[in-house]
Parts: sequence; structure tokens; C-alpha cells
Amino acid sequence: MQSMGGGRRKPAYPPLLLRFVLAVVVLSAAAPRCAAFINPRMLFLVKPDPIVLRDHGGALLTGNLTVNLLFYGRFTPAQRAVVADFVRSLSAPAPAPAPAAPPSVASWWRTTSLYRGGGARVALGRQILDERMSLGRGPLSPGDVAALARAAGHHRGAVTAVLTAADVAVAPFCVSRCGAHGRGRGGAHGRARYAYLWAGDPARQCPGQCAWPFHQPPHGPQAPPLVPPNGDVGADGMVISLAALLAGTVTNPYGDGYYQGDDAGAGLEAATACAGVFGSGAYPGYPGKLLTDPATGASYNAVGLGGRKYLLPALWDPTTSQCKTLV
Ligand SMILES: *[C@@H]1O[C@H](CO)[C@@H](O)[C@H](O)[C@H]1NC(C)=O
Repeated sequence: MQSMGGGRRKPAYPPLLLRFVLAVVVLSAAAPRCAAFINPRMLFLVKPDPIVLRDHGGALLTGNLTVNLLFYGRFTPAQRAVVADFVRSLSAPAPAPAPAAPPSVASWWRTTSLYRGGGARVALGRQILDERMSLGRGPLSPGDVAALARAAGHHRGAVTAVLTAADVAVAPFCVSRCGAHGRGRGGAHGRARYAYLWAGDPARQCPGQCAWPFHQPPHGPQAPPLVPPNGDVGADGMVISLAALLAGTVTNPYGDGYYQGDDAGAGLEAATACAGVFGSGAYPGYPGKLLTDPATGASYNAVGLGGRKYLLPALWDPTTSQCKTLV
């Protein structure tokens, strides 16, 4: 169902400066009547500079967008709340301006509105629990993930995020990626396109790749891990992946939106173009300037509804061709 595009790019940094990145693969849908799209979108240890994402002119997700959450496997209510509150915060009204107020989750999401079409206004849709794991503990294939997303509901104006628990294997989690986004076709004549994504809880599977900087990286400069803002390496790490994938999904939902270069299978997207960057002054191994919660010592860069804190990845800003950081 998927091919791996590994090894296309050689690391540009010496090994100690390797920047490991969130890797994203666009999965193909496994729906019987669809033409399968096989479109791996994988990132390795390279960030060419400067990055320009080209607008390939295809449809983006704009206007009202519902994000459904499918929790596959066992998550605690606290973990689900971290994720659901993040989605609820994306298009929340701006709080009254206050001096020295930290950046909001909504201000982070607003960078996606600088892309053609003005961005999407996100509302949290259904939250579906599949605690008994209808397709087993895994390893789930890309086709399984597509089937789960499809079953959760697919229509224009909705994206289903399939979130897998820490003990659910998704092949090949860790090897090269922490999540993926994809697209499928449904409807009476297979003409309706829909987009979906998958992000895994990285607490037990490659936290160094998928929960950095809350966990030590597998390679490169070793700094002490940061304290996650919600006290949960898995949930806070999964939010980083979910955030990156949502930004990639709305700005390149069908493989012909914004991505680097001309090879739809290999291009960097809105967040993956800025992998490893969370605050200003980031360099390989250092996430950049962040805010610190004085009570817990946790690192964050955005605040959502109810004052909940998050660490969110930098996004590529099409008006400046730079990675935009919040702090
Ligand atoms: C989008 O959602 C808002 C808030 O729910 C609603 O007021 C508006 O009419 C919707 N717009 C469209 C085009 O459906």
C-alpha cells in the first residue's frame, strides 16, 4: 500500500547536527471503489534552506471545517481532553487583549489562513472511542487507518483524525514517521474527496523522534528533555504531530496544494518544512525560545481555551517564506 521514499536526500548536516523531523506520509485510501492514491510523503534528516513551498493550485480546505477525533485503543479521559481542547482552541475567539498575554492556539492556526483561500475555521466534531480496537492491536496498515477514518465519517468539510494509543502499532511507526495524512474518495460515484490523518501516541514507540523535545532525541545533540505542558509525554507529543498534520492537511489536502518542489510524493509541507522549530532561534537539537510555566517548569508556546498550554510547531508562512514562530 505504500512505498518508502527513503534515501532520496542525503543529510546536509554532520551527524551531530542531524535534525530529526516529524515525518509525514500521505497514505492512500483503501476504499474499494476508489482509485488508490499512493503518495508517500516522507521526511528524513534534512532541512534544505531556504524552503519555498509552491502552490500547485489544487483545492485547499477552507471555510468551516469539522475535525472528528477517533481514539483507537485506550486513552485516559485526561489525554482525550488535551487533544479535544486543542482542536476546540484552533478557531476560538481571540481573548481580550492583555499586556504580555502568551500567544493563543488560534494565533498559531491563523498562519494557515495566510495560504490561498483564507484558511479553515475549525470546529470539533464527533469524538469516537474505539477502545476495543475493532481492527486489533496492530500493526495497522495504512489501509486500516484509511478504513477507520472512512468508517468514522467522511464528507466534504470534515477531517477525521485517527489517534492511536501508545500500545497500538501502526506500521511502520517510528521508522520514519510519527503520523500521516491522506485522502480518499467516497460518495455515489467515488467523486467526493475527503481528507484524513493519523497521529500516534509516541510515549512507548519512538518518543525520541515523535515526542521531542519532551524526550531525548535518538541522535544528535543531547539536551535534557523539556517538561510537557500537560504533564504527559504521549498526549503532548501527539498534539505536536496532530498540529503539524492538520496544518499539512488543510494546505495540501489532496496532494496538489502547497508543498516543496514538484514531486508530490516527497515535498515538505506547512509544518514539516519547519520540523524541529518551535520558537525563535531554533537550531538542530534546540527547539528555540519557549515560555515556561512557573508552577510546573513545563515548556509551551501557546495557550488554548481554559488556559490549557501547548507546544506547537512552527509553520511556514507563505507571505514571508519563513518559518513563523510564536515566541
Ligand atoms: C460557518 O460556521 C459559522 C459558525 O458556526 C456559521 O455562522 C456560518 O454560517 C458557517 N458558514 C458556512 C458557509 O456554512
